[in-house]
Amino acid sequence: MPTISFVSPKGGAGKTTSALLLATQLAARGADVTLVDGDPNHPVRTWGEGEQVPESLTIVSNPKPSKVGEKEAVIPGAILRLVNSETIRDVIEEYAAKSQFVIVDLEGTAELIVGNAIAESDFVIVPTQGSQLDAEQASRAFALIRAHERTVQKYRPDYRLPYAVVFTRTNVAIESRDTRFIRNTFETAGIPFLQTELHERAAFKAMFSYRMPLDKLDRKEVSSVDKAVENAEAFTREVLTRIIEALQQQQEQKQAKVAS
Ligand SMILES: Nc1ncnc2c1ncn2[C@@H]1O[C@H](COP(=O)(O)OP(=O)(O)OP(=O)(O)O)[C@@H](O)[C@H]1O
Ligand SMILES: [Mg+2]
Repeated sequence: MPTISFVSPKGGAGKTTSALLLATQLAARGADVTLVDGDPNHPVRTWGEGEQVPESLTIVSNPKPSKVGEKEAVIPGAILRLVNSETIRDVIEEYAAKSQFVIVDLEGTAELIVGNAIAESDFVIVPTQGSQLDAEQASRAFALIRAHERTVQKYRPDYRLPYAVVFTRTNVAIESRDTRFIRNTFETAGIPFLQTELHERAAFKAMFSYRMPLDKLDRKEVSSVDKAVENAEAFTREVLTRIIEALQQQQEQKQAKVAS
């Protein structure tokens, strides 16, 4: 508890980057975290192959398609399990029972696996780049969230699945006109978004090229690592605050129901 899924049907929206940032930041604070690699291209597992996975972070990922003579990579902290549309709900449920946080990285589609992961989630994050095209694609993620809400609302009419957009790859120095416009549009439409943006940063990319957590990156090789760590910490703090607020709201709703 809780399970946080990263959803956007748009490829390259920043799902894996933001999921890995959240997972490694929480693990760095000592939390017991499971990161489910729900993308058949297993980007999280590939990152884990760098053997720099923090001790309190467990990666659950698909086994590689076996090739004759190929040795399975040994990844510290990684558990190889079939993660597909049929199994993802069981996998999430199992790890939610034993981890403090389950974080789910999904592929950039609107396939059944995404809907199934949403159904097991307590919070959904929709990473979006600040362009009109990306914002339109994000609305497909909102539609998946709504579809799940409608199903549950048939027997729990007040059910809501909390979610928030996070703007990714935004310019660190200036807000583009496009991003401002999309922020305003989301605000008007009542679509929740995080105040913290994940800016375009070389260090966020370098985590994948060096297969390391952000804070382990060599400051001589990669520029502005500390600024990137600050950015990732602010993102993690805000996600935690949103989740706590959502849980409190659910609690209040329950109490109001009992009282009425
Ligand atoms: N904030 C950022 N700063 C710099 N590079 C970024 C940032 N976010 C993402 N990227 C880069 O953009 C590319 C796509 O990001 P990422 O893999 O996180 O997206 P995704 O939504 O998981 O994509 P897919 O749908 O293919 O799984 C990667 O090369 C990643 O390194
Ligand atoms: Mg990805």
